[in-house]
Amino acid sequence: MFGKRTSQSATQNQPAAAAKPVAAKPVATRLPPGVAPKPTAAQRGISPQSTAGPVGEAHRSEEYYITKGMIFGALIEAIDLSQLSRLDPESAREEIRDIVNEIISIKNLVMSISEQEDLLDDICNDVLGFGPLEPLLARDDIADIMVNGCNRTYIEVGGKIQLTNVRFKDNTQLMNICQRIVSQVGRRVDEASPICDARLLDGSRVNVIAPPLAIDGPTLTIRKFRREKLTLDQLVRYGSITAEGAEILKVIGRVRCNVVISGGTGSGKTTLLNCITNYIDDDERIITCEDAAELQLQQPHVVRLETRPPSLEGTGAITMRDLVRNCLRMRPERIIVGEVRGPEAIDLLQAMNTGHDGSMGTLHANSPREALSRIESMITMGGYSLPARTIREMLVSSIDVIIQAARLRDGSRRITHITEVTGLEGDVVTTQDLFVYEILGEDAQGRLVGRHRSTGIGRPRFWDRARYYNEEERLAAALDAAEIRDGARVLGG
Ligand SMILES: Nc1ncnc2c1ncn2[C@@H]1O[C@H](COP(=O)(O)OP(=O)(O)OP(=O)(O)O)[C@@H](O)[C@H]1O
Ligand SMILES: [Mg+2]
Repeated sequence: MFGKRTSQSATQNQPAAAAKPVAAKPVATRLPPGVAPKPTAAQRGISPQSTAGPVGEAHRSEEYYITKGMIFGALIEAIDLSQLSRLDPESAREEIRDIVNEIISIKNLVMSISEQEDLLDDICNDVLGFGPLEPLLARDDIADIMVNGCNRTYIEVGGKIQLTNVRFKDNTQLMNICQRIVSQVGRRVDEASPICDARLLDGSRVNVIAPPLAIDGPTLTIRKFRREKLTLDQLVRYGSITAEGAEILKVIGRVRCNVVISGGTGSGKTTLLNCITNYIDDDERIITCEDAAELQLQQPHVVRLETRPPSLEGTGAITMRDLVRNCLRMRPERIIVGEVRGPEAIDLLQAMNTGHDGSMGTLHANSPREALSRIESMITMGGYSLPARTIREMLVSSIDVIIQAARLRDGSRRITHITEVTGLEGDVVTTQDLFVYEILGEDAQGRLVGRHRSTGIGRPRFWDRARYYNEEERLAAALDAAEIRDGARVLGG
């Protein structure tokens, strides 16, 4: 019944296709045949209902999926995918809508207009976009999307992980979508190369791990790119830090302290690094090294570098260490490493120590002290047989400040410490907290109640640096305000 659109589509369907601006608007033909390019957010044409996210999905019954499967099958038979891939996304969407409407009427399927609209969107998303993921991708309040096989998709909203009702038809559909995502950046994921990192066109960071490594089906993790970039002032509004604390961070960013941002997974390290880099002067030459480019520096003079995984033959990998080392030959003033996780730690420390003041990096650790021992073990594991004392001397002479970020058990993200590395006593690296977050209790809704306060240190070690940049008054005022006001609040109960 839809034969006219299959084998004969190239001829019989020509007028309809020609009526649309197929020839005038050639689409990205580098995509595999049958895979139309991913529409832009505006082109996605997702209805308001579907952008509302899993709520819309929540009431979908088993029959819905059966009907959809049946229509989808008929559509795939009826449509010439290679021709579809030549259409621009909007025309392709229209073409699919026409055919689906036709299938619905020929099969005499009874459904309400809104059900039909839902189904149309759903099917268009399957054929043209990232299928059931599309409504989640369209939402800006989601931090992470975590797909654990075809039946379970979780999201992180407001620091809390929630199960959604998003489902894929089967693991094959999920795998096809994973493949479609990674092929955008010229990568491949299959049994032979089951691990893949990629980036969506909007900048979201993607990881795919497929069977046999992922036992329960393809597992996809997306760190959603936030359209609206967070700033320190917004972090103050969210209660992640106080205005005084933010002021101290602004000074630290500006006066070229060497900074390590430490925190657990998803605690907001990259966000914080991004915020602090805002206070770097415009005339500095900054080089960023990342595994997946996430930082969005606003300065005019930025060089962005990204690591490269090995090819399928296992060759051609460019590691973070290669990048950091190369940076040193690029006349950097500041080096910013997205995430330090291996032997590049020693290169970053050396850079910090050799005239690249104001370099920064993030790492996974649960406290400032743990951050120091993590760096130490990264260096030792990198094959350096340096005495512990030498490594610690290096830590002390390179790192000025450690900023600790945390995602607390109620889902809130806070900056819990601004800590200075002060020196070496015997074999022990000494630190002093300038600014801390203390948890005081919990409110009736289960939210943590706490407060940020300065520890009363009036003159941090980077005081001279602050004075050199004419920022000492601002620093003193912020430290002072944080201490007195919070002290008063505590006394007042
Ligand atoms: N202070 C904050 N308040 C609210 N949301 C935040 C805050 N900081 C970060 N986020 C959000 O939390 C998510 C995770 O942030 P980010 O990518 O900075 O974490 P991360 O620690 O770098 O994670 P990873 O360990 O995966 O690299 C993002 O969606 C970000 O927008
Ligand atoms: Mg990060």
